Amino acid sequence: MGTNIVVTGGAAGLGYAIAEELVARGRGVVLLDRDETALKASVERLGGRDRAVGLTGDLSTVEGVRTAASALLARGDIGGLVNNAGGWLPDEQYPDAGPERWMAALTLNLTAPMLLTHLLWPMLSTAAGAVVNIGSSGGLGDAAYGSPEYGAAKAGLHRFTTSLAGRTDVRVMAVVPGWIGLERARKQWAALTGPERDEVGPLVHPEDIAAAVCTLLASGRAGEVVEMLNGHRP
Ligand SMILES: NC(=O)c1ccc[n+]([C@@H]2O[C@H](COP(=O)([O-])OP(=O)(O)OC[C@H]3O[C@@H](n4cnc5c(N)ncnc54)[C@H](O)[C@@H]3O)[C@@H](O)[C@H]2O)c1
Repeated sequence: MGTNIVVTGGAAGLGYAIAEELVARGRGVVLLDRDETALKASVERLGGRDRAVGLTGDLSTVEGVRTAASALLARGDIGGLVNNAGGWLPDEQYPDAGPERWMAALTLNLTAPMLLTHLLWPMLSTAAGAVVNIGSSGGLGDAAYGSPEYGAAKAGLHRFTTSLAGRTDVRVMAVVPGWIGLERARKQWAALTGPERDEVGPLVHPEDIAAAVCTLLASGRAGEVVEMLNGHRP
């Protein structure tokens, strides 16, 4: 009971790197993702049902989050949660994107982590479990930012995490990365000018973030936020 860790958005990108590190450390993982094809391939790469199982769900709607939570509660064996699924709208951002679209981005990046954590709280609490939220440097500071909905949601996720510092029945923590050395960011970084690269800094290694997430799950302090900016290596 209580031994598996749920990784949202675990079928690809940073979520997959986190799942891989958890499995390497002997944990079972439940990958929750909307991409069924990627999910199947990733579960297989992680060693199949002994170590990893996939759960399909869309976390950009409240209904999708509730459905996924019901399936996880029915399993009864969840001891940790990594709220990793998140991201920008693909083309237009607030205020050019319509309200339905930017509100779905707010749901994915803020409401889903809060709601999933809330719905799983009784099970996590019984297992003395922990939650790690994946924030973003886009949620820090006061500079102009290209995706106001993403910036607002990630800033909210940060404060959601620190606000729960007083709750030790379930430890809620966060990692806040800068640009991560995954395929998409690598391409974007390669297209930057020299001064732009200086501003962004070197990319952060996904395996370093995965290691930080595992450390927080094992022994982090409630409300702890680990910032990993500008190519940070621990
Ligand atoms: N990539 C970066 O440079 C970067 C920088 C800072 C923070 N982050 C944060 O790190 C996390 C992971 O980023 P990434 O670049 O690996 O993401 P990604 O875009 O590569 O997506 C990872 C996974 O999330 C799944 N996903 C996306 N929307 C979903 C939804 N509505 N419901 C369920 N699953 C969904 C995708 O199918 C995919 O498998 C996000 O929270 C992101 O905001 C990323």
